[in-house]
Amino acid sequence: MGKIIAIANQKGGVGKTTTAINLGIGLVNKGNRVLLVDLDPQGNATQGLGFVADNLEITISTVLRKMINKDYSITKDYGILSHPEGISLMPANIELSVLETELISLFFGREKMLKTYLDMVRGEYDYILIDCMPSLNLIAINALVAADEIIIPLHAQFYSVKGLEQLLQTIGSIKSNGLNDSLKISGILYTCVNDRTTSFRDVQKILKTACGGDIRIYDNYIPRSVKAEEAPSCGKSIYEYDTTGKVSRAYGKFTDEFLSTVTSGR
Ligand SMILES: Nc1ncnc2c1ncn2[C@@H]1O[C@H](COP(=O)(O)OP(=O)(O)O)[C@@H](O)[C@H]1O
Ligand SMILES: [Mg+2]
Repeated sequence: MGKIIAIANQKGGVGKTTTAINLGIGLVNKGNRVLLVDLDPQGNATQGLGFVADNLEITISTVLRKMINKDYSITKDYGILSHPEGISLMPANIELSVLETELISLFFGREKMLKTYLDMVRGEYDYILIDCMPSLNLIAINALVAADEIIIPLHAQFYSVKGLEQLLQTIGSIKSNGLNDSLKISGILYTCVNDRTTSFRDVQKILKTACGGDIRIYDNYIPRSVKAEEAPSCGKSIYEYDTTGKVSRAYGKFTDEFLSTVTSGR
């Protein structure tokens, strides 16, 4: 049974999509079968893997609409795209924002539509990564309800702490309302780090205190690099785009750390 990991933070531009792609392909490189679910109407993961989001006939919206209509007849590979680097992708595009309105109008089960779908396909994978949208709306809640664990990418800046509190509250509500009792936080991953600045080290200390030692902050962090910014426009992972670069090494080491800390997906 595949382990489902949501990569979530309601703030945009914190490295969710970059982490989803490069942790995903990092896990593939270690011999795992990985599905990446793009759950953002901006379709950045879809485009970052080289697909033209607007031209796709089947996306996560098509699949979720089928779940809403209780049409469970789809095959396990329905709509799933294959990337040359070995990761599978359930793509997204702007249509996902329309779907949110359809979800809201449902009387029953509106938080569980993604879970219903992923439960149908999780036997095919070791890991399913969900690249969340920058919001805590009903679609993001669907990700948190479907997930076993959450990775929170974070910029090491002072104002990140406030946003983190909000996210932790939402996670708490999901658990206390019985929507997903066993939801765990895998850990916090610092991204886009300029480790020469004192602010990085200060924020590290503040966050450690704020988390009270209850939440893992990964030892490995992702440095800032121009190569990391360029890779998505070529539809490649950082491992292919800048094989020996610092971000490539950092995501490789983070993948190892993730594997050593996550409870087994197999
Ligand atoms: N380590 C990094 N160094 C430099 N730029 C990065 C790095 N990680 C992400 N970026 C860039 O920052 C922007 C936001 O990253 P992204 O992963 O799309 O964040 P999110 O999905 O949280 O909105 C993108 O343009 C991305 O290419
Ligand atoms: Mg994104």
